Amino acid sequence: MSERIGEPAIETSGLVKVFGENRAVDGVDLRVPAGTVYGVLGPNGAGKTTTVKMLATLLRPDGGEARVFGHDIVREADAVRSRVSLTGQYASVDEDLTGAENLILLARLLGHRKPAARARAEQLLEAFGLTAAADRQAKNYSGGMRRRLDIAASILNVPDLLFLDEPTTGLDPRSRNQVWDIVRAVVAQGTTVLLTTQYLEEADQLAGRIAVIDTGKVIAEGTPGQLKSSVGSGSVHIRLRDAHRREDARHLLAQVFRTHVQLDPEPVALTARLLPDGSEDGPAEMASRALAELTRAGITVDDFSLGQPSLDEVFLALTEKTATNEAKQEALA
Ligand SMILES: Nc1ncnc2c1ncn2[C@@H]1O[C@H](COP(=O)(O)OP(=O)(O)O)[C@@H](O)[C@H]1O
Ligand SMILES: [Mg+2]
Repeated sequence: MSERIGEPAIETSGLVKVFGENRAVDGVDLRVPAGTVYGVLGPNGAGKTTTVKMLATLLRPDGGEARVFGHDIVREADAVRSRVSLTGQYASVDEDLTGAENLILLARLLGHRKPAARARAEQLLEAFGLTAAADRQAKNYSGGMRRRLDIAASILNVPDLLFLDEPTTGLDPRSRNQVWDIVRAVVAQGTTVLLTTQYLEEADQLAGRIAVIDTGKVIAEGTPGQLKSSVGSGSVHIRLRDAHRREDARHLLAQVFRTHVQLDPEPVALTARLLPDGSEDGPAEMASRALAELTRAGITVDDFSLGQPSLDEVFLALTEKTATNEAKQEALA
């Protein structure tokens, strides 16, 4: 690895990709420190895959610039390609071959001699818990096994930068945990990982920094902690004795906290996000003020708890902010 200390693995500036009228990626600035897991978090259609494809040199940008380990992704695409690997919906795994055959074949294509290819395949099958399934055709693998095989295939040669595009979408929690362990092992070897995900918990678990992306734009960036604190200090979850009083409680809490109060699936439960209200009060003081108000209004609280904001709440708050800003801009236009 020849990069200078502190040089980012990825740096983009105003990256754009347009499909017809659709600005799928609309001016994305990213800076991904080398040796870390960087999360790109966003809903379906946000522009995650398009961004990854441009950075992996599979798609040519329509605007802006990007460098991977200092190499321009358009002018020095070969140099970029030699440093990166990609896992996702483009996997090169052949359904009719067994797990072992797939890895050996791909290792041979990468230039390994037969014994070395075999050895590397065995090593990865072992590391990814696929030894028992090594001689089964890939088409008979479960979703979790298949995803692990995809990742194994993408790290036959340990890449300096690995793109993992939604590696756990659709997986059950156990398989998801296995993939998370693999990601941690990969980054421990010194590989930088750019991980896209729709799962807020996943970004929180794995990534040192996160860019939240929506409709082709980065709407927030920072550590998971910074993102949480930019949104508010958490939420108060309240369970009422009487479901009939929930609307009253909602109005009251909305007044006290000057925030949106969410009705939870359970008919007695509701959640209020705590936003900084300009006072010195921390979350505990704000929550006790709310409880006092509810009591004064004759609404009985059976249970309450204070929670750190989840990244789900962070995302909701951030996209609400964008929507509000857009509404403001439209109103002013
Ligand atoms: N090859 C393509 N041709 C036309 N539109 C595309 C193409 N690829 C993606 N898009 C559109 O670009 C937007 C971003 O897509 P994508 O990057 O796949 O989002 P994500 O990976 O975050 O779900 C979507 O509106 C999608 O429909
Ligand atoms: Mg995608």
